[in-house]
Amino acid sequence: MRPKVLVTRKVFDDTLNLLSKYFDVESNQRDVPLSPTQLVKRLQGKLGAITLLTDTFDERVLTQSPELKIICNLAVGFNNIDVKACTRRGIMVTNTPGVLDDTTADFTWCLLLATSRRIVEADKYLRAGKWKGWVFTYFMGHDIHRKTLGIVGLGRIGKGVARRAKGFDMRVIYHDPSRVDEATERELGVMYVDKRTLLRESDFVSLHVPLLPETTHYISHGEFALMKRSAILINASRGPVVDEKALVSALKRKKIAAAGLDVFEKEPKLTPGLTKLDNVVLLPHIGSATQDTRGQMAVVAAKNAVTMLRGQRPKNIVNPQVLGSVKYMRRIGK
Ligand code: DGY
Repeated sequence: MRPKVLVTRKVFDDTLNLLSKYFDVESNQRDVPLSPTQLVKRLQGKLGAITLLTDTFDERVLTQSPELKIICNLAVGFNNIDVKACTRRGIMVTNTPGVLDDTTADFTWCLLLATSRRIVEADKYLRAGKWKGWVFTYFMGHDIHRKTLGIVGLGRIGKGVARRAKGFDMRVIYHDPSRVDEATERELGVMYVDKRTLLRESDFVSLHVPLLPETTHYISHGEFALMKRSAILINASRGPVVDEKALVSALKRKKIAAAGLDVFEKEPKLTPGLTKLDNVVLLPHIGSATQDTRGQMAVVAAKNAVTMLRGQRPKNIVNPQVLGSVKYMRRIGK
């Protein structure tokens, strides 16, 4: 009998074809997130799951899915999965790092450019038939060239954002719990600073940290108070990194100039007041959404599943500790 795998949301046909070579595949082609109850029901008898960030794998779901051996998240972030609980249960978790870094770095720049030059607002204005001719004082934006960019989190995506800043002749400062080596700082043209200095000196603050207890509400009232009134906040990482209520208040009271957001605290819900504001660009979590990148992410996730269930070590294991666990060995039958 072939192992069974659940694909929780709509993916590409190619991905399903690849998986079908090795597994019996059940796929949720309705493309609406499964509720925890539906998820548990569909997971019965499944050894693997190809999941999206809209699927919550918590204790409750895991306890009721005893056959599950591997969760392949179709994202680099995996805050939708209780990894510790998976490790305890001998369930491997994989993600899709690497293939989306440049796309997300490109996108961060799209967001930064759109926000600073009020592109979305101006487009709406024109479409609404409000443009009656050229006006000297309309849609004043913010310059980008030679300004200071503050990057929070200098991982793969943060580094990509820094590289692209060179084209704008920017001063780039960064903050990260682990400072990169000097050679990397030189190559990227970045300078390490503490969080306060970053917030105080940046014209643009761009967030590239994973969602962890210590990064939740990393930007809140206190941080907005430190930022320049002309500063622009960009978030293409995870929504809860920013205290959205505090952001609405900061934008309303012009404590900062603007924000560009691709992610939200309680997706797809937005904090009341956010959509009423002109000085914020709001996008529906599309940072990695290009044909090429989503295609590659799907292949990486599928290959992780195939590799593991064929008894080999997948490339992108989030919880490698699981490999040493007796529970895991029992589960894969060794
Ligand atoms: C990720 O990979 O974590 C993104 O947020 C979705 O592509």
